[in-house]
Amino acid sequence: MTFRIEWVRSSCRMLNQISAEFERTQPFAGMTIGTGIHLEPKTVALLLTLHAGGAHVVSTGNLNSTQPSAVEYLREHGVTVFGGPTRDPVERSGHLDEVLAAEPHLLLDNGGDLFVRYLESPYERLLGGTEETTSGRMRLAGLRSEIAKPVLVINDSPIKQFAENKHSVGQSVVESFMRISNRATNGRRVTVFGYGACGKGVALNFRNNHAIVSVVEIDPVKRLEAMFDGFSVPDRDEALASAQIIITVTGAQRVITSADFALLADDAVLANAGHFPIEIDLADLLADRSVTSHSSDEGITTARLADGRKLHILGEGHMVNLAGPRPLGNSIESMDLGFSLQARSLEAVANGSVGRESCVVPVPRAIDEEVARSYVELARG
Ligand SMILES: NC(=O)c1ccc[n+]([C@@H]2O[C@H](COP(=O)([O-])OP(=O)(O)OC[C@H]3O[C@@H](n4cnc5c(N)ncnc54)[C@H](O)[C@@H]3O)[C@@H](O)[C@H]2O)c1
Repeated sequence: MTFRIEWVRSSCRMLNQISAEFERTQPFAGMTIGTGIHLEPKTVALLLTLHAGGAHVVSTGNLNSTQPSAVEYLREHGVTVFGGPTRDPVERSGHLDEVLAAEPHLLLDNGGDLFVRYLESPYERLLGGTEETTSGRMRLAGLRSEIAKPVLVINDSPIKQFAENKHSVGQSVVESFMRISNRATNGRRVTVFGYGACGKGVALNFRNNHAIVSVVEIDPVKRLEAMFDGFSVPDRDEALASAQIIITVTGAQRVITSADFALLADDAVLANAGHFPIEIDLADLLADRSVTSHSSDEGITTARLADGRKLHILGEGHMVNLAGPRPLGNSIESMDLGFSLQARSLEAVANGSVGRESCVVPVPRAIDEEVARSYVELARG
């Protein structure tokens, strides 16, 4: 596993460049940075970049995603990690408290957990920080007047939107569909639910892999956009009845419910790429006594309906690109970009170039431009 961490670190070319600069400039000298994020090889590269910049990094993982080898590697390289892999929210909550007990100067938040807790028990030296996700932005936006410190939202950078949400999620969802099911995409009828940044990439990548793709969108403007992008936009029931592969990527709840299962074609494969496992109502399907099901540790659940039809659900409805055997998630390059935005944004908060008026706002344009320029220069060699 150390090989994979080293491979990821050496492939993060932007972060490596920033690390080398940070070793000289020491933007975080004497500061503590606290975080609670997925602890896996790509975040190792980010946390070690912050460490190279002089920070004492205190961290804990998220639920269900911490990789023991990443924890071990971080500890060996001077990062403090509280706890290990866990599915227990109470245990994780205790570790978040440990992170905040170190009174970090900067918080690298993921879902708003750290800033919300900070408000429950504020301390003097917090300068501000970053938030990685949309869900965290929604949570923290209502707390601006209480936080009153710079908090830059990485998800709202256009670079994150197109590099990760559109291109990388699209690629990794197709990769995961094929890795888990080992079925071809060629000539298959695929329906994508949701045409936000992620849905656009999923639809595009299935089409690029020779599938026949339709889009179901509740927003009429985005539905029109999907049509202009060359996808068919059938009515929902029509799409459900004809699809051989269905991907949900909306962020909404119960997008596919038990009422819909009656419409689906025999042998249809369903997968979710939205953040939470709430888009395909698998529990509802399996609660039906007339349905028998079989789950494998290969990431495929097959439900046999009373009329003999079989439906296959990948990854039990969890994010499919982190499910099944040997999940790798989004590409290293897309994360290198997103984490370079993180490193530069934390640097900006640390050196005071963004003030309290920048509370829960997108990454400043100057940082987007700098990161974009560096990536293009590196990529052109
Ligand atoms: N798998 C990954 O690696 C990954 C990475 C980034 C984001 N995400 C997640 O993917 C989801 C979508 O992200 P996004 O940035 O595209 O969001 P978005 O808000 O830009 O787009 C979601 C779209 O879904 C549509 N929608 C909502 N309910 C619908 C329904 N019932 N039927 C059809 N369409 C519906 C909305 O109108 C919207 O256009 C979120 O949960 C996000 O957290 C996953």
